[in-house]
Amino acid sequence: MNRDERMARIRAARRRLAREGPRWTRDGERDFATVSLPERDCDCLRDLLAAEGASTVVEIGLAYGSSALAIGEALTAVGRPNPRHVIIDPFQEREWSNVGWDQLRSAGLDEFARLMAEPSSAALPRLVAEGLVADAAFVDGSHRFHEVFVDLYFLRKIVRPNGLVVLDDSWTPPVRTAVRYYERNLGWTPVPGAFAGGSVDHNVTRCMAIRLPGALTEPAFTEFRPFWTSQQIAWPAM
Ligand SMILES: C[S@@+](CC[C@H](N)C(=O)[O-])C[C@H]1O[C@@H](n2cnc3c(N)ncnc32)[C@H](O)[C@@H]1O
Repeated sequence: MNRDERMARIRAARRRLAREGPRWTRDGERDFATVSLPERDCDCLRDLLAAEGASTVVEIGLAYGSSALAIGEALTAVGRPNPRHVIIDPFQEREWSNVGWDQLRSAGLDEFARLMAEPSSAALPRLVAEGLVADAAFVDGSHRFHEVFVDLYFLRKIVRPNGLVVLDDSWTPPVRTAVRYYERNLGWTPVPGAFAGGSVDHNVTRCMAIRLPGALTEPAFTEFRPFWTSQQIAWPAM
């Protein structure tokens, strides 16, 4: 199969999933819509990774596979040799009946994807030990503050200097607060307009992309800058 045929197969799988939903969902009619990254945000993610020329991407949180298909499309579009898509999700089989992984397989993307069925807090340090270097990461796993914070801690050692970290649900206080530490203390810089065509939740662009600095340096602990006040980051009225 040539690259155009592979791209057509991936796009068809993405379209099918977005229009018809997966073959199986957890309880609740709206579960797919609630859990999955919306199609327009998937398109922005794909375009961003393709513009970066990404060939190795780490993804946290597979669920029904919407974002994973978009990442696979970007890696295929870039077309560099030996692309790698490392996906981490401890619950893919137990909670999601392997639907996300089946989506990738039906699109032929399992050829270069690897699923690590363990919590990101266990998988990411193993990737560091393996010496994996990624161009970008997409973070959409546990949304607990301490788990997002730990995800970013390890991704900082995996994503190359000047690489990208993209987060879903950036409007939520636990995600926003975790990111702010890295912005205020470690030189991570939001990429303006990266998700300009994406969804908006509670007046905030749903996804955010952040660029890592050009070198991995450790600040002195005396340079620590407080990064959170409840006025800055609070739950919106819901
Ligand atoms: C919001 S869903 C991801 C949706 C997915 N990005 C999509 O577009 O379809 C969150 C996912 O994170 C996974 N998850 C929860 N805790 C996790 C952890 N500690 N490490 C990795 N993944 C986790 C869940 O199993 C679930 O699949």
